[in-house]
Parts: sequence; structure tokens; C-alpha cells
Amino acid sequence: MTQLSVNVDHVATLRQARGVSYPSPLEAARIAERAGASGITVHLRRDRRHIQDRDVEELTTVVQGKLNLEMAADDDMVAFACTLGPDQVTLVPERPDEVTTEGGLDLVNAGSKVLSATRKLADAGILVSLFVDPDPAQIRRLTDFSNQQASGFEINTDHYTRPGADRSAELERIVDAAAMGAECGLQVYAGHGLTVENVRRIAEIPVIRELNIGHAIVSRAVIVGMEAAVKEMLAAMAG
Ligand code: PXP
Repeated sequence: MTQLSVNVDHVATLRQARGVSYPSPLEAARIAERAGASGITVHLRRDRRHIQDRDVEELTTVVQGKLNLEMAADDDMVAFACTLGPDQVTLVPERPDEVTTEGGLDLVNAGSKVLSATRKLADAGILVSLFVDPDPAQIRRLTDFSNQQASGFEINTDHYTRPGADRSAELERIVDAAAMGAECGLQVYAGHGLTVENVRRIAEIPVIRELNIGHAIVSRAVIVGMEAAVKEMLAAMAG
């Protein structure tokens, strides 16, 4: 069965909006794992807009399954990850003004920095995954990375999930990318923009081992948790 790594970044987004200590991404991680998630993902962005260094530190002790840290292939981030030792690092491209990760790594034209980060992280005993678009030219480059100790790659499902997308063509690209990458001996993951409405066909692709889903789950949690939160407040008011 396809596993689910829950991305708790946007729990931290709510916390950072007020600069307070709640809601706690750690608590969200505990609940997600209790509910059946195989692990937890966080993206430590250069601007620290949601997840903070301390969250990652604390998550290394709280997460029971796989802790997957998404980050840019910068030297200081690599050093941070090597010190903390999350189970897995997913290397992603990062632009300062982007709202969310906008696309996969360019392994064809800018692979050397990613290659050196992969080596350092793998030498520190961390599993390394690479976030890539389902583009055959990029996927072909994965062979070099599997030789350099990368253990897996995550297919960017963003195009597939966009309104108005040619779903069957996008699905075919993802299926082909998954098969090509698996042939290099890499674990196959996928994520970005997945929701309960669009996840099924992706979860049915046999070689995809795990999906990485965040925004839709945190958004839904706000809605399904609203009744309990209001009742809790009314009870507190009544004393
Ligand atoms: N995978 C990667 C590499 C990401 O950067 C993100 C967003 O942080 C996700 C998956 C999860 O995307 P979403 O929040 O849309 O589920």
C-alpha cells in the first residue's frame, strides 16, 4: 500500500502568523503518525517563513517513522542536516519570492551543486531524495545520482493537479517517470498539490512508494476540527 508522509509546514505558518507557540507542528506530527502516516515532512526554507530550525531539531526526537527534511542544496543547509541527521533529505529548488516550490530541480543544467550535496548527506548516513519534474531529460540524469548514493526521487505532481490540466497526458508522464527512475534502482515518491479529489490515480501507480501531502491535509484539518474547537472554547467560557 502507498504510504503517506504528512507535511506539517502550514501548521507552522499559522503559528508564525501570530509569533506565538501554537499550533505546534510537533503536536500535529504526533497526531498524523497516530492516524497512520508513515512519516513527517517539513521544508526548512531559507527565509524561515514557517518551519524553524528548532522545529526540525525537536521533530528528530518526536517522529517515530521517517522524518523527511526538504531543503535547498546550500552548504549551510547541508551542514545543518548533517548535524541533526533526519532520516531523509529531499533536495528542492528554492526561489525567495515563490509561494511554494514551483518546479523540480534542474539536474541537466545545474546538477553539480545537487550532486555534491547528495554525496555529503549520504556520507552522513542520510537518505537523499531529489524533487524532479516528470520530464524524461531530468529523469535520465537520475542515473548519475543513484551512482552518487541518492536513494530516491520525488516526482512533482503539480502539473497533474492544476485546474484545466490534461490529466491523462500528465498521468502518463508521471507513470513513465516513475518507471524510468525505478529502473535506476531508486525509491519513487510523489507529491505537490495532491488532494482527496485528485490523489487516487497517483496512489494507484504501483512503483510509487510514498506520497508527500501537506496543504490539503492542514486545510482540511482546520475545517473538520472547527466544531471541536468552538465547543472547547464555549466550555472554557462556561467555566
Ligand atoms: N513535495 C515538495 C517537494 C514540496 O515542496 C511540497 C510543498 O512543501 C510538497 C511535496 C507538498 O505539497 P502540498 O503542500 O501541495 O501537498
